[in-house]
Amino acid sequence: MTEIRTRIVGTGSYVAEGVLTNADLEKLVDTSDEWIVERTGIRERRIAKDGIATSDMAAQAVLNGLDMAGLKPDDLDMIICGTVTPDRPLPATAAYVQHKIGAKNNCPSFDIAAACAGSIYGLSIADSFIRGGQAKNVAVIGVELLSRVLDFEDRNTCVLFGDGAGAFILRGDTAENRGILSTHKFTDGSLANILKIPAGGSAMPASKQTVTDRLHYVHMEGREVYRYAVRYLADAAKAAIAANDFSAEDVDIVVAHQANMRILEAVSKRVSIPLDKFILNLERFGNTSSASIPIALDEGVRAGRVNEGDLMLMIALGGGISWGSALLRW
Ligand SMILES: CC(C)(COP(=O)(O)OP(=O)(O)OC[C@H]1O[C@@H](n2cnc3c(N)ncnc32)[C@H](O)[C@@H]1OP(=O)(O)O)[C@@H](O)C(=O)NCCC(=O)NCCS
Repeated sequence: MTEIRTRIVGTGSYVAEGVLTNADLEKLVDTSDEWIVERTGIRERRIAKDGIATSDMAAQAVLNGLDMAGLKPDDLDMIICGTVTPDRPLPATAAYVQHKIGAKNNCPSFDIAAACAGSIYGLSIADSFIRGGQAKNVAVIGVELLSRVLDFEDRNTCVLFGDGAGAFILRGDTAENRGILSTHKFTDGSLANILKIPAGGSAMPASKQTVTDRLHYVHMEGREVYRYAVRYLADAAKAAIAANDFSAEDVDIVVAHQANMRILEAVSKRVSIPLDKFILNLERFGNTSSASIPIALDEGVRAGRVNEGDLMLMIALGGGISWGSALLRW
């Protein structure tokens, strides 16, 4: 029997229109353009307007991806939405997306919370359903409206993140030697507290006090995250390459989570893949968490950087901490 492989047949993205530059942030917190560029590589990020919800951005990204794939919302068998900034704690943001794009009722739609690794986790889940024959066309979304959970009085976090949405449209295909070759997922829950929103969940329900104490915003131990990011992203990249009997030189293109230029430079060295093989856009969008890989891929595809037959490596790490990689033949 011919093997079914999962292929990315469409990509889509949506970034909010409002641009927040480093110079704008200098007016809000004690920081400087020089510090932010030197430590992170970020120059500006997008901030969604009031009234826009996470699902609005996600729906636009999926519609753009479906358009590229030549598919309609009705063709989707599943919508998987990676987000840690949902429209609401209940219901799933994916349910709103399903309704907004006009997909059908037998298109189960659910969220996954794997933070910045959300798109790779989503890709992996979709791949299992597609190869197992339970779904043919699946939309995997990475979307975040982080500006709603950022403390614009905390210079440790507010300079890093931005808003955006990206989507992969995936399809089962029997074309030989194309599609997802493997995915690799990891979590180290002992590090769960180094990147979190302390309040608003069952452990610390929202109250006047939690709002006064600014506990409904992102809190991060940046140096710790940095340390693990370099090590684990490199390990995940090596795991994907080794599992498929390739070597680093075989990789044509890297779509990495866009968190920090210094992290990517360090990972590039550790895995011996030059930075010019990486699609980079964090200078313009900052860290959009689960959205960053699908946005970067969409930009790369539309700019003609990705060619049929390219060996593509994806790597991401974020809160959880959760991380992972995927290797695919485009
Ligand atoms: C956040 C990060 C950029 C900080 O860079 P760093 O070189 O590690 O900086 P440090 O944490 O050592 O802080 C150095 C100093 O800069 C200060 N600082 C922090 N943010 C600042 C800012 N925006 N502007 C100016 N100074 C800042 C710190 O307060 C500290 O001052 P101190 O020495 O007086 O205490 C870096 O740790 C990082 O990128 N971590 C990973 C974060 C990340 O990517 N998270 C998401 C993962 S998905």
